[in-house]
Amino acid sequence: MIRSVVRGFGASLPKRVMTNSELEEKVDTSDEWIVQRTGIRQRYIAGEGETTASLGEAAARAALDKAGLTAADLDVIIVATSTPDNTFPATAVNIQNRLGMHHGAAFDMQAVCSGFIYAVATADAYIRGGLAKRVLVIGAETFSRILDWSDRTTCVLFGDGAGAIILEGQESSGTTADRGILTAQLRSDGAHKEKLYVDGGPSTTGTVGHLRMEGREVFKHAVGMITDVIEAAFEATGTTADDLDWLVPHQANRRIIDGSARKLGIPLEKVVVTVDLHGNTSAASIPLALNVAASDGRIKKGDLVLLEAMGGGFTWGSVLLRW
Ligand SMILES: CC(C)(COP(=O)(O)OP(=O)(O)OC[C@H]1O[C@@H](n2cnc3c(N)ncnc32)[C@H](O)[C@@H]1OP(=O)(O)O)[C@@H](O)C(=O)NCCC(=O)NCCS
Repeated sequence: MIRSVVRGFGASLPKRVMTNSELEEKVDTSDEWIVQRTGIRQRYIAGEGETTASLGEAAARAALDKAGLTAADLDVIIVATSTPDNTFPATAVNIQNRLGMHHGAAFDMQAVCSGFIYAVATADAYIRGGLAKRVLVIGAETFSRILDWSDRTTCVLFGDGAGAIILEGQESSGTTADRGILTAQLRSDGAHKEKLYVDGGPSTTGTVGHLRMEGREVFKHAVGMITDVIEAAFEATGTTADDLDWLVPHQANRRIIDGSARKLGIPLEKVVVTVDLHGNTSAASIPLALNVAASDGRIKKGDLVLLEAMGGGFTWGSVLLRW
């Protein structure tokens, strides 16, 4: 059977770092409160000329370099984002053009913080269904541009950045010893819209709007939803927490990450945490974390890696893959 194998990975961050102490000057907050409640110490904020497409392009170029490929080798580009450069055309098409690629297809995927999981699952379906041989999957965001910078309950949590992987179809034996994606589990439930949403849009207000969140409510649902899709991934593949080499969770909050790992019996030494460095970068957080842990040698070829995310919608999902 065909499996979708990671050929390359890359990431890009804006130049400007914003520390918690800088936020103390903007809103009534403290470094101590932010670190204790979230684990975040700093985030990167896009400056002039830095956009979702420019960050995504840089991440894509890094992933292509790593894979020893060029844009000519790609069939499809999928960009997971909730902060596109324009309402349309898709940021994926913008990046396709920036890469000098004028063949194949490019489109955006919108599942907020679960966007990268949804995009990887979609790329995997394209590859296994024979629609594409190689898919560039990018998670790219500039959440700083939809934050209400006077709202201390949200503006301290998010940051900007982009990460990318290239998936390639390779003939495999069909066992869990194969490299590549072993299963993807996706869920959504629109009943929770009011807990995490943006209060604007082309068809409602005609404006971009700002992020609004009932943080405590999101927190209450997060661990249960994450556990649900991780257990589904184990069940679909006959694997257990003991088989895992790495858990690479969506980086929203250190307490959610630790709580989910504890509930699943995954030791914290096997959990990749970058929320301290990047804050919550929504769809970019998992590929940014993958880039850190694969670049520093923690994630190695053949490792069993579990990705999971939960976010606005609500949406939630997991991907189990062998690196
Ligand atoms: C947002 C979050 C960090 C808040 O932590 P919490 O422990 O739930 O805190 P609460 O919302 O109960 O607020 C506690 C107090 O801190 C205050 N507070 C909120 N933000 C603050 C800030 N940045 N600095 C200082 N105090 C703050 C609140 O006003 C509240 O004060 P009160 O008790 O006087 O009313 C937490 O709920 C969370 O992480 N939720 C999930 C959010 C998330 O990950 N969303 C993205 C999903 S993809």
